[in-house]
Amino acid sequence: MGFVVAIDGPAGTGKGTVTKIIAEDLGLVYIDTGAMYRCVTLTALRKNVKPVECDELIEILENIEIELKPNEENFLNGENVSAQIRTPQIDDNVAKFAALKVVRDKMTLLEQKMGKDGNVIMEGRDIGTVVFPDADVKIYLDCSVEERARRRYKQNLEKGIEISYKDVLESIKQRHKLETQREIAPLRQAEDAILVDSTNMTIEEVVEKIEKIIKQKMK
Ligand code: DC
Repeated sequence: MGFVVAIDGPAGTGKGTVTKIIAEDLGLVYIDTGAMYRCVTLTALRKNVKPVECDELIEILENIEIELKPNEENFLNGENVSAQIRTPQIDDNVAKFAALKVVRDKMTLLEQKMGKDGNVIMEGRDIGTVVFPDADVKIYLDCSVEERARRRYKQNLEKGIEISYKDVLESIKQRHKLETQREIAPLRQAEDAILVDSTNMTIEEVVEKIEKIIKQKMK
């Protein structure tokens, strides 16, 4: 195993943004595992496959090819789906697919392969608890639910997606419930993970804090 940094936490904590910056600063390969679950969801929705363990879903998983490029473009069976996997429709459906054992088993396997040889920083929900329980560094990035909704609301506006703050908050709460209460690999802080609460921190402050922790382990 190479050097593995696991960053877990709920949506809207700034996980993606800080992980990307840290990867660049420290020369680690950035892996966004949420994008992988989003690719599965996009394929299923396109084929009208429901979020249940059925033959159609198994077939999708058997044939799925996901490529996460260094420039953060995501390819699904050769197609650039970077924008299609970030729509509110995917936001609202992905947690249901991510709760299924067949989906998690396949994604976990792919993630373990990606982290096997290189030095990686991998962000998700279960990286420190399930995918790499022996990761060199484990961070649990948290943030209040209201602040998370505010950030997602702002991001949506920037992307031209108009959804009220109230609806964003509701969707975030709903997703959080599904992610923390699911049976398999629920979102939780690993016992040996370091908690960073970003509610009242700037991106720069979070980056600095996490880089300090990683650098100590890299020595
Ligand atoms: O981080 P994100 O919002 O792009 O994640 C999309 C969904 O995938 C979210 O519902 C949580 C789920 N997910 C997961 O269950 N395990 C991971 N390692 C990464 C994401």
